[in-house]
Parts: sequence; C-alpha cells; structure tokens
Amino acid sequence: MTENDVRRGLVGVIADTTAISSVNSETNSLLYRGYPVQELAARCSFEEVAYLLWHGELPGDDDLVAFEALERGQRTLAPNVRRVIEDLPTSAHPMDVMRSAVSFIGANDPDAENNAPEANLAKSLHLFAQLPAIVAYDQRRRHGNDLIEPRDDLNYAENFLYMTFGEVPDPVVVDAFRVSLVLYAEHSFNASTFTARVIASTLSDLYSAVTGAIGALKGPLHGGANEAVMHAFDEIKTADRAEAWLDEALGAKRKIMGFGHRVYKNGDSRVPTMKAALDVLVEHYDRPDLLELYTALETGMAERKNIKPNLDYPSGPVYHLMGFDTWTFTPLFAAARVTGWTAHIMEQLAANALIRPLSLYNGPEERHLS
Ligand code: COA
Repeated sequence: MTENDVRRGLVGVIADTTAISSVNSETNSLLYRGYPVQELAARCSFEEVAYLLWHGELPGDDDLVAFEALERGQRTLAPNVRRVIEDLPTSAHPMDVMRSAVSFIGANDPDAENNAPEANLAKSLHLFAQLPAIVAYDQRRRHGNDLIEPRDDLNYAENFLYMTFGEVPDPVVVDAFRVSLVLYAEHSFNASTFTARVIASTLSDLYSAVTGAIGALKGPLHGGANEAVMHAFDEIKTADRAEAWLDEALGAKRKIMGFGHRVYKNGDSRVPTMKAALDVLVEHYDRPDLLELYTALETGMAERKNIKPNLDYPSGPVYHLMGFDTWTFTPLFAAARVTGWTAHIMEQLAANALIRPLSLYNGPEERHLS
C-alpha cells in the first residue's frame, strides 16, 4: 500500500450500490428512483416524494391518503421533546437543537432498537412528521414567540410554514418552499447520508444514524453552505460591491460558499429549478436588489474561477425572503433530507456490510518505552 492508493476524501470511490437516486455529472441530471427531480418538483407534493424514496414507487390515491393521515397524526411534539428545545440556550445553533431533539425522540421510542424494515419505516415517517415542529418552534422561541400547534387540515409544506409564521403564506411562497424540499430530499452518497449509512452499518438504531447525519450536515462544506451564502450577501450588501468582495475573498484563498460541488463539475442539476422559484419570490416580495446581488456574485465567480453555483446558492435567499432566520436554513435542509437519510439507512440494512475502510499509517516507526 502506498500514498497512491489513498483516496483522500474518498474521491472517486464507489462505496456501494443504491437504487434510491442517481447523480450523473456528465448529463447534469439527478433521478429519484428513476424520475428526474425537475419533474417531481414540478408535479409532486413533498409527501409523494417521501413515499417514493421509501417505497420505490409513487403512491396510488389510496396509498397517499393513508400516508398523509399517518404523517398528519404525528406532528405534535412530546412534552419532553418540547422541554429540551426550551431548555437549550438560544445561543445554540438550531442544528444542535435539532440533533438533541432527535436524540430525545429516539429515547422516547420503545421500538428504537428494532431494525425490522416495517419498524424503521414507521420511525422514518415519525421523524418526517416531527422535524418541522422542531424547526418551527425553535425559530419562534428565539423571537420570544409561543409554540403553534400543527393543523391536520394542511399539507406538509403549508403546515410547516403555518407552525413557523402563524399563517399559511401566499400559494407562490408555499410552492417555492415545496420545491426546495423536493430538491433537498435526496442526493446519493453525500457526506451526511454516508454518515447515516456508516452508523446504520454497525447495526445501531435509526435515530442514532439520523443524529449523526444531522451533525455531518451542519458543516459549511455541506448543508451549512446555505446559511453561509446569506452571511456573504449580508457582508456584500449591494451588487456593486460584489466584485471587490470576491477579489478580496479569493485573494485570501477563501472558499465562496454556495459554489462548487464534489460531483457536479459543470453545474448542479437542481439549481435552475430553485433559481426559477427564487425569481418568483423576488417578484412576489419586490426585492430586485437581492436578485442583482445574486447575479453579480454568480457572474463574478464564473469569470474568475469558472465555478458554478450549487443548490445552496439559490436556496439561501429563497429561505431568507420567506422569513426564516439565516441559521434556520440548514435545519430546513435536514427536515427535507431526513427522507433520503432514512431511505438509505433502510437500504443499507437490507444488504448490510459493516463500513470500515483501511488507512495508510504514516506515524512514527515502531518504538518502545525506555
Ligand atoms: N470557492 C472558491 N474556490 C473553490 C470553490 C469555492 N466554492 N470550490 C472549489 N474551489 C476551487 C478549489 O479551491 C480548488 O482550487 P485549486 O485546485 O486551485 O486548489 C478547485 O476549485 C477544486 O476544488 P476542491 O475543493 O478540490 O473540490 P472538492 O470537490 O473537494 O470540493 C466543495 C467541493 C463543495 C467542498 C467545494 O466546492 C466547496 O468548498 N464549496 C463551498 C461550500 C459549498 O457550497 N458546499 C455545498 C456543496 S453542495
């Protein structure tokens, strides 16, 4: 074994097979269970996409009614989960709050250790239904606002926004939110999903795997990038300052968040769909200044580095316009991605092999205590 055998960052390593999604960098395409994500974003509810990821097929009418009823029936937080959110300081990052709350949800579940497929499907649906309540309440309490109980007459996206803001916003806003959830739901062996699969491969429980995935997603090189995009916008302030800001940041060898991708080298397949939703919201909220800044930074980055935006670039300003706090953006990503994580956990367990790579030792030669 030599340095040449080392794949730092597992670049180029095919770690397993998956039937859940395929990312094709040559054609810039992303398929969930064979369906192009753009078609799903145009035509499907987020509930339908979650069902597709878990079951492999879109639901029939009766399946969907039953599935929606199950999700709507599990939206209320248990008292101790609510308390853990309240007990955590508001200086804590919302991803830390989500990570802690998911741990409590797992500890509450008497079936947590049961890794049978039907038990894990039930847990996946439970987390799917609970994460919006965690995100919404956490944002509210940071503004001194009370918890809003879920409504079972609203779909997932409507209820999520209702629990956060106390009203169901304009349909164009709900639709942009739904689109973002569909686009964030799944992306093959990304870092957080791989983390979930590693944990699942030890035959630990699904909640532990999701907790680990939340930790991985938090990092700015992964899900945390959508927050970082907004921080950059706040720093730059206006479009005319974008070029100078970019020159300084690149001169200091800083990574520009929301740009680049490990797999897509020619543009992220999800960006055009999310950008179209951003355009609608810019018009709805009358914020052409935000679009100008968005375009200036994108153009500057293309000219200087020829690096294209990833999904986090348009989704940051989309969530900002909707009224989400900047550090709530990554929890929104997590609430969507829990569908993909859990689909992968179940797939891993269905044909499990402990994930345990090798390493090339480059420390001191063998030595002995004198
Ligand atoms: N800003 C500035 N330069 C970037 C860049 C960015 N966002 N992304 C890549 N580059 C540059 C690197 O500096 C490197 O240049 P070099 O060869 O001169 O050193 C080159 O492009 C290759 O980048 P590399 O870091 O090897 O690519 P990767 O596949 O390991 O990294 C990311 C992919 C996503 C980690 C990287 O693009 C990044 O850090 N992006 C910002 C964070 C982000 O938006 N993450 C969300 C991903 S969905």
